[in-house]
Amino acid sequence: MRVVSGIQPTGVAHLGNYFGAFANWIELQNAGHECFYFIANQHAITIPQNNEILKKNTLEITAIMLAVGLDPKKSTIFIQSDIPVHTQLSWILSCLSPIGEMERMVQFKEKSKIDPSATNLGLLSYPTLQAADILIYKADLVPVGIDQAQHLELTRLLARKFNNTYKSIFKEPKTLHTKTTKVVGLDGAAKMSKGLNNYIGLVEDEKTIWKKLSVAMTDPARKRKTDPGNPAICNIYILHKLFSSQKDLDWVVDGCTNAKIGCIECKKKLFENIIKLTNPIREKYLKLINNPNDLKDILSIGAKKATIIAQQTMDEVNALVGFKYF
Ligand code: ADP
Ligand code: TRP
Repeated sequence: MRVVSGIQPTGVAHLGNYFGAFANWIELQNAGHECFYFIANQHAITIPQNNEILKKNTLEITAIMLAVGLDPKKSTIFIQSDIPVHTQLSWILSCLSPIGEMERMVQFKEKSKIDPSATNLGLLSYPTLQAADILIYKADLVPVGIDQAQHLELTRLLARKFNNTYKSIFKEPKTLHTKTTKVVGLDGAAKMSKGLNNYIGLVEDEKTIWKKLSVAMTDPARKRKTDPGNPAICNIYILHKLFSSQKDLDWVVDGCTNAKIGCIECKKKLFENIIKLTNPIREKYLKLINNPNDLKDILSIGAKKATIIAQQTMDEVNALVGFKYF
């Protein structure tokens, strides 16, 4: 199967991104599918960006993608703006995108609410560009977080509309979510998100992770160690379930409900299990980010490979739309 997905270079990647998106990317790659993974820098500028920071974030997210296990020998890894036919197809799809539908997109409504005076046309047509990103590779499968489901619905609608208007050349891609659709934040109140500053970063060092974890929210009814707690409603236990073995989980449930362990002991165990995942990622990341030329080579090879497929679709589309005269 052909797999396509993207991530915006808009700052730190955290455990929510890992369990909500990257985990599936890696699994699909290792299952031998033909994967195209890219950095959605054109989507990123729908919110104002500083050009130097955008460049830095682009290289950082590339290093993170490789550090979590994406392999340029198996997957095609590239930057969206290096493949100009994404935006070329996006224009054609925008002429098929119903404006009412675009205005009903949850992400558009949320982002345009933040600063209505800064709402731009790019923010409104964001999902059409996303559809172009996917359809240009005739993807079968798109692994994304649950918040992207509506954009995938639009992608399928635009595939149908194009097929009905011109000729049936696009498949309707399937959406694939991970088992963990929502990783809870350290505040216990909302999903882990960089915007809410309630996250553990994938490449943070041990000291930073412990600093954040040690003050993270727990079962509010458990004020003292002698108070029995309820793991089912505890933020820390929810995170334990992502990281810890059955033996550790049993230890937490018994220790917490019978007031045998304190919250700090419970957090220490979680910390040990989190760093088993993040330390190797951080080590690889530091090596990669210190060799930016290697990253640039990987991205340039990826762009060449992606262009071959994308250009084929674009030629086919241009002929069907009536843009090819000779
Ligand atoms: P953020 O909310 O931190 O800005 P993004 O919107 O950049 O994160 O998310 C990139 C990808 O990671 C999306 O596919 C999204 O669904 C997924 N994702 C982000 N946060 C979480 C979370 N807390 N739990 C599960 N998936 C998440
Ligand atoms: N909108 C996605 C997000 O914020 C990123 C993205 C852009 C994407 N184009 C895509 C994801 C195409 C999957 C396929 O997470």
